[in-house]
Amino acid sequence: SGLKKPLNFTMQKHLKEDDKKVFLETFGCQMNENDSERLLGFLRETGYERTLAPEDSDLIILNTCSIRDKAEQKVYSTLGRFRALKDVNPALLIGVSGCVAQQEGERLMKRAPYVDLVVGTANIHRINALIKEASLNKKGVVATAMSASIEKDEFSRRVQKTPYSAFVSIMRGCNNFCSYCIVPYTRGPEVSRAAAEVLDEIAGLAEKGTKEVTLIGQNVNSYEDAGGVNLTGLIKKAALIEGIERIRFVTSHPKDLSGELIHLFAEVEKLCRHLHLPLQSGSDRVLKAMKRVYTVEEFLKKVEQLRSLYQDMAITTDIIVGFPGETDKDFEETMKVIRAVRFDNIFSFKYSPRPGTAASRLKGHIPREVKSERLKVLQDTQRSITLERSEALVGRTMDVLIEGRSRHDASEVAGRTRTNRVVNFPAPQALRGSIVDVTITGAYQNSLRGVYNERSLLCS
Ligand code: 5AD
Ligand code: SF4
Repeated sequence: SGLKKPLNFTMQKHLKEDDKKVFLETFGCQMNENDSERLLGFLRETGYERTLAPEDSDLIILNTCSIRDKAEQKVYSTLGRFRALKDVNPALLIGVSGCVAQQEGERLMKRAPYVDLVVGTANIHRINALIKEASLNKKGVVATAMSASIEKDEFSRRVQKTPYSAFVSIMRGCNNFCSYCIVPYTRGPEVSRAAAEVLDEIAGLAEKGTKEVTLIGQNVNSYEDAGGVNLTGLIKKAALIEGIERIRFVTSHPKDLSGELIHLFAEVEKLCRHLHLPLQSGSDRVLKAMKRVYTVEEFLKKVEQLRSLYQDMAITTDIIVGFPGETDKDFEETMKVIRAVRFDNIFSFKYSPRPGTAASRLKGHIPREVKSERLKVLQDTQRSITLERSEALVGRTMDVLIEGRSRHDASEVAGRTRTNRVVNFPAPQALRGSIVDVTITGAYQNSLRGVYNERSLLCS
């Protein structure tokens, strides 16, 4: 055809100030998910809307994770893919935020010079100012300063991924320095957010229709704000907020799980009876080397206490296999705990040495094949335990918060039980956000099936 393309298609697009697009990819944990929601919220203020097409964007941000080496390597391979887009659109800005940004700082800029912005974990709320700086300064901007306090509106202005269920950050950082873990380095020392601000945020979410909040932090059991409000105090206050039906919290450290908190599951009806309690290893010797400061016996006591108080309590955990020096006998002790406790689910990982951590300097690193073999044994065993526990739920009626369409069948809906299990069942999509009674009819590896009781709608 004789039609010419507009001379400079991208230039034209950039003339419209209020029509900017950001492509954002999130790796890692709930903290990062929450940081991504905050990024999108702050960016919206300066006219950025989200796009799912990187080639259409004016800004690309990778919000990164460095908990294990695999996660970190993924960042570099993903960045490589986006590099070529700069040839087509020289005005494109590429940013890296989150844990790899914090950990690597200037080094990241050296390794990938086409990166314009390195935004550390305590600088998320400064994103707009940093973008401005990066567009003026062609050398790129690195913002990795840590701060000992949380600024007033640091956690506000978010775009929510799921309307009915929201993560709410209650603290930042970790002081535990478990010997394998990079988080105290990438997220800095523990700082708790003011309870009043957390509660304001939750009240705002409730007004917009959020039914479930998950209070998140690396070690929420040590939450304490300047006014002396601790986690139990915060949960009690959050439970008074009208519209909020369910409250969860992650992650707990077994050493800090207080009796007061355990009893809260009876006191506060809205508190969901699910606890994620990372064990990491079933060998006291390994736990000591990990600097976890509890014994297997102490861990088991807490599990027992929870289960004897609450029959319906769901408990999940994290396990690392192949920590330096882990013998076959140590691993067998972990397996013994796995078989004895019968967790509802576990998240299991091969130990990955992280730069600067104490464990990375230990002797006795375990060969990769041994780690893989142990992981397989662990996961195979847990898979059948999870399935058996799910099958035991068949016939039970549980309340389910409908979150959206089922991933398996678009005509069905998916939701979660209070014990955090996914249930798929036929129901009108319009019921999204409602809590309904569902009778469990089938159990699979990662989900349950059910039928919902239409009459239960009348009482909610
Ligand atoms: N290698 C393997 N797994 C790790 N985790 C933390 N650091 C490492 C590491 N270096 C796991 C722990 C933690 C979870 C979030 O990630 O089990 O609880
Ligand atoms: Fe890492 Fe331990 Fe802190 Fe958890 S408690 S974030 S494993 S250092």
